[in-house]
Amino acid sequence: MDLAKKHNPDLVVIGPEAPLVAGVVDELRSAGFVVFGPSKAAAVLEGSKAFAKEIMQAAGVPTADSKYCQTVSEARAALELFDSPYVVKDDGLAAGKGVVVTDDFDAAVAHAMACIDSRDGGAVVIEEFLDGPEVSLFGVSDGTTVVPLTPAQDFKRLGDNDEGPNTGGMGAYSPLPWAPKDFVADVTQTVLQRMISEMNRRGTPFVGLLFAGLAVTSRGVRVIEFNARFGDPETQVVLARLNSSLSELLLAAATGKLSSLPKLQWKPESAVTVVMAAKGYPESPVSGAVISGIDQAQELGTLVYHAGTKTNDAGELLVNGGRVLSVTAIGSDLAVARMQAYAGVERIEFDGNHHRSDIALKAALGEIRLGDHS
Ligand code: AMP
Ligand code: GLY
Repeated sequence: MDLAKKHNPDLVVIGPEAPLVAGVVDELRSAGFVVFGPSKAAAVLEGSKAFAKEIMQAAGVPTADSKYCQTVSEARAALELFDSPYVVKDDGLAAGKGVVVTDDFDAAVAHAMACIDSRDGGAVVIEEFLDGPEVSLFGVSDGTTVVPLTPAQDFKRLGDNDEGPNTGGMGAYSPLPWAPKDFVADVTQTVLQRMISEMNRRGTPFVGLLFAGLAVTSRGVRVIEFNARFGDPETQVVLARLNSSLSELLLAAATGKLSSLPKLQWKPESAVTVVMAAKGYPESPVSGAVISGIDQAQELGTLVYHAGTKTNDAGELLVNGGRVLSVTAIGSDLAVARMQAYAGVERIEFDGNHHRSDIALKAALGEIRLGDHS
């Protein structure tokens, strides 16, 4: 608020989920600022998985069957209802790390217990496993109208071939050559618009970025989750392909004028981004290593986004967080874009750095078939 008062901007954009869920947008709006971002009441779509499920049910949005459990014995009973793989989700905010998908019944129970015991009112959502590749589709909304962006695929697991623990996201690409025909139009109608209309009907319109995490299953598209903000690292590839003005889009959403905005234009090229992570990420990232080579990566034409970095008094750039950098490239197709992104990654060094080597690989090779889990 102090910052907004000092600069008096035409538009304030609130990015991360924690301030959104805490209600920063409401405070700024009541002080008269034009804000892109959902109110506290609307951000609950990300803040509570159980609330999101309830809205989806009311709006007729396709999602996994699920049970909300507040005790370990309820969780155990729910797990017995669903076949393995078991899916156990912390009900609250968990930075993408509150979900366990496992074939091991005891591990599923143990995660439920950890979430339920972690705080007062701790709860889990247990749900049906969704097969099929995942897609992230972002919708920008002014509370009534929703404009879809271009879809992207994120890589949630730490290791190549989707092995290892879930992370905040290790890389992404766009577009999705394998996506079903009319995918964006269909999801806009059956998912994004229904959610926006239901939130509006309840008197808590969603103004901001509605991020649908989707699974393209053998039985059709299902929602995995919603976020109330741009996703990382999908945004790096989505915005790399946007040929219209982002600020005009966000301002139109914040001022209720999306229906009169000209159609968004997208570059035909492909974009790939690769996350470089710190030693120990995701369990216990180690900060402090010196980073070099960013200039060389940029000279190759890649865009290097900083997520977990800081500079020290000597002007050196240091690792300061789990996901440190993401290296993004545009190319005539996915194969070219991924080659360029990895060329950038190869120029950058810091002690203990690691990244996936298979971002966008299957898609570039045309190996993603609907019905695979990816
Ligand atoms: P979430 O935080 O809900 O996005 O879940 C994180 C990740 O867990 C997702 O991106 C999926 O890879 C996986 N996941 C979550 N729910 C399911 C489900 N019902 N079936 C299969 N995988 C899931
Ligand atoms: N990449 C997923 C997220 O931002 O939550």
